[in-house]
Amino acid sequence: MPTTRKAALWSLLGAALLMILLAGCNGDLPQSTVSPTTTNTRDMQFLYKIIFWVAAGVFVLVEGLLVYAVVRFRRKPNDPMPKQIHGNRTLEILWTVIPAVILVGVAVPTWQKVFSLAGPPPADALRVEVIGHQWWWEFRYPDQGFATANEMRVPAGRPISLEITSKDVIHSFQAPKLFQKMDVLPGKVRNVVFTPEQDGEYHGQCFELCGDGHADMRFRIFVLSAGDFDAWIAKHKTVPQVTDDLAKQGQRIFQTKVFQTQPGTPALYGSTPRWGCVACHTVGAAGAAIGPNLTYLGERTTLAGAIMPNTPENLAAWIRNPQQQKPGALMPRLGLSEYEVEAVVAFLESMK
Ligand code: CUA
Repeated sequence: MPTTRKAALWSLLGAALLMILLAGCNGDLPQSTVSPTTTNTRDMQFLYKIIFWVAAGVFVLVEGLLVYAVVRFRRKPNDPMPKQIHGNRTLEILWTVIPAVILVGVAVPTWQKVFSLAGPPPADALRVEVIGHQWWWEFRYPDQGFATANEMRVPAGRPISLEITSKDVIHSFQAPKLFQKMDVLPGKVRNVVFTPEQDGEYHGQCFELCGDGHADMRFRIFVLSAGDFDAWIAKHKTVPQVTDDLAKQGQRIFQTKVFQTQPGTPALYGSTPRWGCVACHTVGAAGAAIGPNLTYLGERTTLAGAIMPNTPENLAAWIRNPQQQKPGALMPRLGLSEYEVEAVVAFLESMK
């Protein structure tokens, strides 16, 4: 191969490697794990840095020695047979003791952080119940008496106590810029406490393979100023009024319409069930739900597990055929006429 082509290949390879390395450095990615904004995530970053630099040091030392040995002691023509040895006690003790010391050195700060993150929530914490469902997130505010889905709002500067559990299978919950990952287990409530510091929009998702819709099980957390959060709470103690005519018709369909099984409806509904939207969704009440609570759906920025922007077009497409928008979705195809879809969309979008 001519030298220029060889050089070109090497520089291409170098550039590709550099790109792969630098791809991890974009701190503006919405789910970056290396741009902490809370004590929780700064603690994790601290551990990450310790472990990274220790591992980098070990890598350079070990690979350096290896390369040195390969080059320095490589076989040359007419070399005599080297001296044959069996084992070296000093070396063996050294390469057992040094890694043990390094591991203990990494373990001690890890334990400290794990225990400090696991402490009980402070008395003034805002409680939010997080319930994982296939494939969306339910957020309940037990002390305020209402529930929402896939988009949580919390105030900046106040500890938030997440009480995390699952309705069905094991999920995993994390907004990487805000708090650590927590397994979401059916029949068990686990606690994450964090204090958001900066207003803004934070992204998260399910981190445990949990079925067809796993990748579509996302959520947003909006951190508001204390004043904005209080106003949001006050607003959510009432149910939005429906005034528009089309929306009123949509509300009637939502509350009373009886549906028949449509082709493509998930098998769990059997072959001949009938149901209305209200069989699974609530509007106004904070109680248990099979599907997401849709009170104030109109104020949400996203739909269907935060997979698409909340627009009337997307909502209509979702109602027409949920499985097409989100493979495996458990919401049935309702077989509504185009006019009925339009009315239900008008009703739900007016809920704000
Ligand atoms: Cu829930 Cu993956």
